[in-house]
Amino acid sequence: MVGSRSPLINVMVRAAEKAARTLVRDFGEVEQLQVSKKGPADFVSSADLAAERAIRQELSKARPDFAFLMEESGRHGPKDARNRWIVDPLDGTTNFLHGLPHWAISIGAEMDGVVTAGVIYDPVKDELFWAERGQGAFVNSKRLRVSGRRSLDAAMVATGMPFRGRAIAPHYLAELDLVMQEVAGVRRFGSAALDLAYVAAGRYDAFWEYGLSPWDTAAGAILVAEAGGFVTEVDGGSNPIFGSSLLAANGGLQRPMLDLLRRAAQGA
Ligand code: IPD
Ligand code: CA
Ligand code: CA
Repeated sequence: MVGSRSPLINVMVRAAEKAARTLVRDFGEVEQLQVSKKGPADFVSSADLAAERAIRQELSKARPDFAFLMEESGRHGPKDARNRWIVDPLDGTTNFLHGLPHWAISIGAEMDGVVTAGVIYDPVKDELFWAERGQGAFVNSKRLRVSGRRSLDAAMVATGMPFRGRAIAPHYLAELDLVMQEVAGVRRFGSAALDLAYVAAGRYDAFWEYGLSPWDTAAGAILVAEAGGFVTEVDGGSNPIFGSSLLAANGGLQRPMLDLLRRAAQGA
């Protein structure tokens, strides 16, 4: 089925494509990039900043009444705005800086506190993931559905593990240990936005991670929901975009994953 993109999605796609042009150029020169340390194992490159500027310019031109929540530069725009953009100009920075071709631009649109549209663009693979509330989820023009797998032992599960300098979520290693024993495979590809897009695409059956930020999850969460999947916190809570943990899964595996992660937390 071919998706027809709304004006809102088109604005987001244009901004993502503009950022992609600068990122692809910088990716080609990744060795020459001037890199400064933002914190332990968390780099911000000149590429992030240039991409974020390009996105902000494009989006504010098209929708001057929207505010912004951006990873690199924080909050901007009208204080009384009802709508805002939630932007990660480069998700998968560590991959990017190591020349690993797995990173993306993520843009979510929030209206009156609810994320209603998302675009995640992986320019290296030329995959444009997009979704709008009630309209479905797509990659390029192809409709997305979450996978139909219902049993854990056939499931491919993605995760993000804490890295140097990041507090480890109290139960994370116990969870990983248990999940590894129960599922067909666990992957850590290093871009939460693409992890969520891949759940929407049925490539992964589930994904969980702690300590993500709204710019990592806003666009991906609506992609998963519009592809027929479920996104909650790891304890089942209903605030995965702004909360401290996230579990995304297809309908058949949501309950088994929630139960598995709960068992790990209880030390079973
Ligand atoms: C990171 C990636 C990674 C996740 C980290 C995020 P960044 O985003 O999404 O997969 O494990 O928690 O911070 O720093 O590359 O934008
Ligand atoms: Ca990110
Ligand atoms: Ca980022």
